[in-house]
Amino acid sequence: MKGVVLAGGTGSRLYPLTKITNKHLLPIYDKPMIYYPIQTLVDAGIRDILLVTGGKTAGDFLRLLANGREFGLKHIHYTYQEGEGGIADALSLAEHFADGHKLCVILGDNIIGGSIRKAVDEFRKQPAGAKILLKEVPDANRFGVAELQGDRIVGIEEKPEHPKSNYAVTGVYMYDNTVFDKIRTLVPSGRGELEITDVNNAYIREGTMTFGFLEGWWTDAGTFDSLLRAANYVAEERRAARERQLAGAARR
Ligand code: DAU
Repeated sequence: MKGVVLAGGTGSRLYPLTKITNKHLLPIYDKPMIYYPIQTLVDAGIRDILLVTGGKTAGDFLRLLANGREFGLKHIHYTYQEGEGGIADALSLAEHFADGHKLCVILGDNIIGGSIRKAVDEFRKQPAGAKILLKEVPDANRFGVAELQGDRIVGIEEKPEHPKSNYAVTGVYMYDNTVFDKIRTLVPSGRGELEITDVNNAYIREGTMTFGFLEGWWTDAGTFDSLLRAANYVAEERRAARERQLAGAARR
C-alpha cells in the first residue's frame, strides 16, 4: 500500500501564523507539524509516500524533508495543488502516483498518539472499497461525523449542527483505486471545496466502507486551540518517554 500526506490549503484559521508559511511547517512541540503524519505512515509500514502541498512556500517542504532520510526513507514524492479546492481535490493529484495500488491517506494536520498499523494491515486484506478510523470526541460538530447503526456505518455528515453521534471521522482514509473515479463525480460543496466526506459517502452507498476506532490520543492542529492541544499531547508523551528511560536505566 502507498501513502499520501495532504498538506495543501491556506490554513486561514491560523492566520497570521500562516501569513508567511504553510500551516504544516509550524511547530508541534519539538518538530514541524508535517513530521507527525509522515511518521504515522512510516510506523504503519508504509514507505512509498507522496506529499501533496501548495501555496507560496511549497519549496520549503523539499528543503525540510529532502528524500526523507530522517524517517529512514530513500525517497519522498512531491506534487503541487494549485489553489485550495478541498481535500478530495488534493487527493485527485495522487492518481498517477497510486498507479493502481491501494492508498492510505492522512491529513497533514492530524497528530496521532497511537499506531494505525492494525487498521492498515486489515485494509491490505480487504478485497476492495475503503476504510476509515473514528474517534469519540466531545466536539463532534467540528468534524465529519459518522452515523452508526449497530456495527454498520450508514452515513457521514460534514460539520453538522446537530451531530448524530460523538464519533468524528479522523483524517486517516484508506482507499482502493476507484477513489479517483468517485472524485471525478463530485461537485464543490457550500464552502467551494471537493469534500472528502462526499467520497466516503459514495463508498458507504456502494456498501464497501469499513471502519475501525483510532486508539490513543488524536487531534487535528488546524485551530489555535487544537494546535496548542497537539503540542501539549506531544510534550506529555516526550516527558513520559524520558521517565520510562530513567526508570529503565535505574533498574540496570
Ligand atoms: O481532521 C479531520 C477532519 O478533517 C474531518 O473530520 C473532516 O471530515 C474533514 O473535512 C477535515 O476537516 P477540516 O475542515 O478540519 O479540514 P481542513 O480544511 O482543515 O483541511 C485538513 C487538511 O487537509 C489540511 O491540513 C491540508 C489538507 N488540505 C485541505 C484543503 C482544504 C489540502 O491538502 N488541500 C485543500 O485544499
